[in-house]
Amino acid sequence: MSEQTLFKVTVDGITIEVPAGTTILHAARQIGGEVAPPAMCYYSKLKGSGGKCRTCLVEVSKGSEKDPRPMPKLVASCRTTVMDGMEVKNITSEKVVDARAGVVEFLLLNHPLDCPICDQAGECHLQDLSFDHGKSKTRFEFQKRTFKKHDLGKNIQLHMTRCILCYRCVFTADQLTNKRVHGILDRGDHAEIATHIEKSLDNEFIGNVIDVCPVGALTDKTFRFKNRVWFLKPMDAHRDCPTCSGRVTLWNRGDEVYRVTARKDEWGEIEDTPDGQPGWICNTCRFDKKEASDWVIEGPRAISRASVISQGHYAGTVGMTKPTETFLAVNGGRAPHLLMDIHDESEVNKPNIHLGQIQGPSHGDTFENKKA
Ligand code: SF4
Ligand code: FES
Repeated sequence: MSEQTLFKVTVDGITIEVPAGTTILHAARQIGGEVAPPAMCYYSKLKGSGGKCRTCLVEVSKGSEKDPRPMPKLVASCRTTVMDGMEVKNITSEKVVDARAGVVEFLLLNHPLDCPICDQAGECHLQDLSFDHGKSKTRFEFQKRTFKKHDLGKNIQLHMTRCILCYRCVFTADQLTNKRVHGILDRGDHAEIATHIEKSLDNEFIGNVIDVCPVGALTDKTFRFKNRVWFLKPMDAHRDCPTCSGRVTLWNRGDEVYRVTARKDEWGEIEDTPDGQPGWICNTCRFDKKEASDWVIEGPRAISRASVISQGHYAGTVGMTKPTETFLAVNGGRAPHLLMDIHDESEVNKPNIHLGQIQGPSHGDTFENKKA
């Protein structure tokens, strides 16, 4: 058996050996932490992804041992393979930090400030990226892009204004389903995700586009507006599914299952199953199995990524127990609806007087049935 050729590569001063053909991004991911550049369009489980968003730009300060000249421009680390002796700068390069701030500003030009109402908030890669590299102000003085609404069917909600045109969902549909019905129509600032003409996305594996979308452009209609991800407890669970791996993360509050997603690794990508296959999940597991009894719970999921989800992921109370009701305890045993019954609480208001029928501002005399 032939020996695998290994190349030495140094990223931000840390040297590792990786097999020839490894991309700079993957080499940096092997080192881990902040050394790994962010990636908005690359997705290791999708063939052909990467090379579109430029968030993963790095500086190659030494090309290789044989040809030590630096590369003249910043390169996309997700598409550039390492050479033996290559030296790469990511967060240690001023040029990279500056360029990344520019890329974030560009991605946000047309992106709405939807975080307060967006289901992706708390697990959005663009939110993380703008937190790390964004500016607090915009220089954009024009009207942001707007789009005609497209209905993608009963399970998936499209918010085109949030899309960064990374193509991940298109590759997912191409590579996981028999027939892709959506894609990117038009070009330039007219480019948009759409179906031709008004079809619904209902292939059994199409729900995975929700998991690969780095922003909140594609979200789960069965979860929409129901809860914030940081209030939910992610639990690893599985079921014997005839269609997919059946290995999922349940997003619970107490014993209520709010959302089902595939399991994701520290890079936000679908985790592999124990047999080395990507753990994509089917629509039945994702959208229809919303009872705790549908699943075998394995235990709480460790959230390794710096995330607001891990902030609320306190140890000890994670599990199938509802949070203890503290309201009664702190209010002397009075339930909230009694507090809201103003007639019981006040000597002034009388139950037979309908506040909505009082003309003008009411005062004490109104309730005494006297003329002012
Ligand atoms: S909808 Fe999401 S996954 Fe698809 S291209 Fe837009 S940002 Fe990428
Ligand atoms: S992740 Fe490399 S260009 Fe988008």
